[in-house]
Amino acid sequence: MKIGHIELANRLFVAPMAGVTDRPFRQLCKRLGAGYAVSEMITSRKELWNTLKTSRRANHEGEVNPIAVQIAGTDAHMMAEAAAYNIDRGAQIIDINMGCPAKKVCNKWAGSALMQDEPLALDIIEAVVAACAPHNVPVTLKMRTGWCHAERNAVRIARAAESAGVAMVAVHGRTREQGYKGEAEYDTVAAVKAALTVPVVANGDITSPEKAHEVMRVSGADAVMIGRAAQGRPWIFREVAHYLETGQHLPEPEVLQAKAWLLEHLHDHYGLYGEHAGVRSARKHIGWAVRALPGGEAFRAEMNLLETVDTQVRAVTDWFDQLADTHHFLPSTLVEVDQIAERA
Ligand SMILES: Cc1cc2nc3c(=O)[nH]c(=O)nc-3n(C[C@H](O)[C@H](O)[C@H](O)COP(=O)(O)O)c2cc1C
Repeated sequence: MKIGHIELANRLFVAPMAGVTDRPFRQLCKRLGAGYAVSEMITSRKELWNTLKTSRRANHEGEVNPIAVQIAGTDAHMMAEAAAYNIDRGAQIIDINMGCPAKKVCNKWAGSALMQDEPLALDIIEAVVAACAPHNVPVTLKMRTGWCHAERNAVRIARAAESAGVAMVAVHGRTREQGYKGEAEYDTVAAVKAALTVPVVANGDITSPEKAHEVMRVSGADAVMIGRAAQGRPWIFREVAHYLETGQHLPEPEVLQAKAWLLEHLHDHYGLYGEHAGVRSARKHIGWAVRALPGGEAFRAEMNLLETVDTQVRAVTDWFDQLADTHHFLPSTLVEVDQIAERA
């Protein structure tokens, strides 16, 4: 599969999740089977580009290609400038956020709120494509099925976006109004796929290899994008890849292997955020990794009190070593759709 001229390793995408899919997490997902990962959104507000948060998000040192950066905003000129800024910092693909329902974004009329204002959405798309074209950087669009149930305009926006030069569209099978409630539907994804010639990616509630296979079948999508089900379980990508290739399930990872992946993630995480911020923001990743395991909730509560890299790493190491005394393979941690809703 290709995005514009850029060839991807496979059809398994990591969904952008602000506060989650930072560079260390994306790297790990790519190492464990994802073919593509988009950065957390970067605001188009210039005054925030020098903040620690945005400069960390725009730092792609050592990232496996292709480097795809998502931008969010409400003004076509500012979005074009944001695209150029991120291309200067290594972005090879620019993704426009028209899918995120977060209040912080939507209050400023960005993210999925843009789906309610089609002329503005199109102005933004055209301006970003024009800014990226001289650099040969493809532009992609991440959207929902529409604003609300009665106004599911994904097909119309996707068609206009393709005509404006967008090279790929990802669709989360919910409306803006739904937030993360209810279940994702894939009929609208199928309708978008049928209407476009550029690749279409299906997203929403994909929690297992079977579900990935089924969503690809019913939607005809070229790829699937997985978000919440990868939290604490980044190896879901290789499980899905193996199942799509062979129809067989991989066994759960060995406990000691899962420990090694988590420690690798933590060290990369501390490297990006430093000790003080890193230990705190690592807690959620550790929590996701252990929450479905025996004794995981109790461990999470204790681990959340630790404040240094040394104590956090030691606690994680000891906890997994103890689990390995009784379990060779990780007890199954595949999550159900209703559990995943809690993670939004
Ligand atoms: C914590 C969190 C942060 C998110 N941040 C973004 C974002 O920055 N940009 C975006 O387009 N979507 C964002 N999303 C939406 C996801 O990319 C995805 O569309 C959604 O979670 C549905 O996929 P899933 O069911 O596989 O999680 C976010 C979702 C979550 C849970």
